Amino acid sequence: MSKKVVLAYSGGLDTSVAVRWIKENYGMEVITLTVDLGGADSKDLNEIKERALKQGACKAVVIDAREVFVRYFVFPALQAGALYEGVYPLATALGRPLIAKLLAEVAEDEGAEAVAHGCTGKGNDQVRFELTLQALAPQLKIIAPLREWGMSREEEIEYAQTHKIPIKTRKESPYSTDENLWGRSIECGVLEDPWVEPPDDVWQWTNSIKDCPDGPEIIEIGIEKGIPFRINKDYLDGINIIEKLNKLGGLHGVGRIDHVESRVVGIKSREVYEAPAAVILHKAHRALESMVMTRDAMRFRDIVANQYADIIYGGQWFSAFHLDLVAYVLSAQRLVTGAVKVKLSKGSATVVGRRSPLALYRHELATYDKADQFDHKAAEGFIKIHGLSLKTQSRVQSQIIYGTHEIDLACVLPPRLKEITEGKKTC
Ligand code: ARG
Repeated sequence: MSKKVVLAYSGGLDTSVAVRWIKENYGMEVITLTVDLGGADSKDLNEIKERALKQGACKAVVIDAREVFVRYFVFPALQAGALYEGVYPLATALGRPLIAKLLAEVAEDEGAEAVAHGCTGKGNDQVRFELTLQALAPQLKIIAPLREWGMSREEEIEYAQTHKIPIKTRKESPYSTDENLWGRSIECGVLEDPWVEPPDDVWQWTNSIKDCPDGPEIIEIGIEKGIPFRINKDYLDGINIIEKLNKLGGLHGVGRIDHVESRVVGIKSREVYEAPAAVILHKAHRALESMVMTRDAMRFRDIVANQYADIIYGGQWFSAFHLDLVAYVLSAQRLVTGAVKVKLSKGSATVVGRRSPLALYRHELATYDKADQFDHKAAEGFIKIHGLSLKTQSRVQSQIIYGTHEIDLACVLPPRLKEITEGKKTC
């Protein structure tokens, strides 16, 4: 019996060609695995399955992992406030560790000794797949045909034609795209020029401003411990919340992101995203946090959010460090319960209201009207103590601090050692 490999299979050109190529070059039987993580066009999974079998797979496994994706990956990332480089909600990056984990599970079930993916040697996704596999199933051999075969896209198409590999006949898009419930990623083509505005055909989930409804729409989002559970009067599960916000946000042109991104492999690349639900939910979530968390907690939250985003982006989901951060996030999120009102209008999502039973915002402390309970007299003593170090500085150091003198920044850039020892230059 020949050896088996489980291939992560999307049904696109690359993975279609990979089925045949692996059989030819490794002499292994190929089992395809297609994972549904949601997205706008619900993929025809049966069609993908049949195509895989026609292309020579000995078995085609299809898994609907949308619920797991939302519960174990998307919402924890939302709770953590994870936005890579402050803007990218990490849709693709969150999907990869789950797909890799499922590859390992199917490989075990099927007695396969290898797994394969269709990532190139230049992107982040190969890193995410393989780091996850190293953490969860280090015994598996990993095959990465696109890194190995050295074919250009044209050569791939030729290979497919020569070998009568049925591929989708629709005109290939000029972009490379990936999508799931949490967002759509688009790259390549004219987008490779960061000076060029993304053309209209890039967008599929979101309206351009000119096509948005005239009137704004205000929605209320209910959140418990950092997890959204309600939109207006509708109590919804995670998948439905995200799908609904993708539709609503998309209608109002919300969620377009145009970013020059720092890839794991060291290059900068221009990436464009559509993620209406993610953008709305991150804004709402942070607005609620600012109602219930202290200044210091918010500042620390931002540090953790950045670190958390780096972990996801860099494929370290199954690292101990990630789990350490999860412990902090879950503890901090115990307070993040309440509701937020978001106004959607012509490309923007703006928080216009927030409330929480645990709010640190107290009207009786904040108000200037007669309900005011803030102790104005106490301010005098507070300022005295708070300002004491400044007062002391002024008394003792004012000439140096406020006097005019130049600071030469060359003082931290030493000349060659010789020049110093020979007394030619001093620091
Ligand atoms: N730059 C994004 C990331 O690394 C998206 C990659 C998406 N892949 C694609 N084929 N468009 O997460």
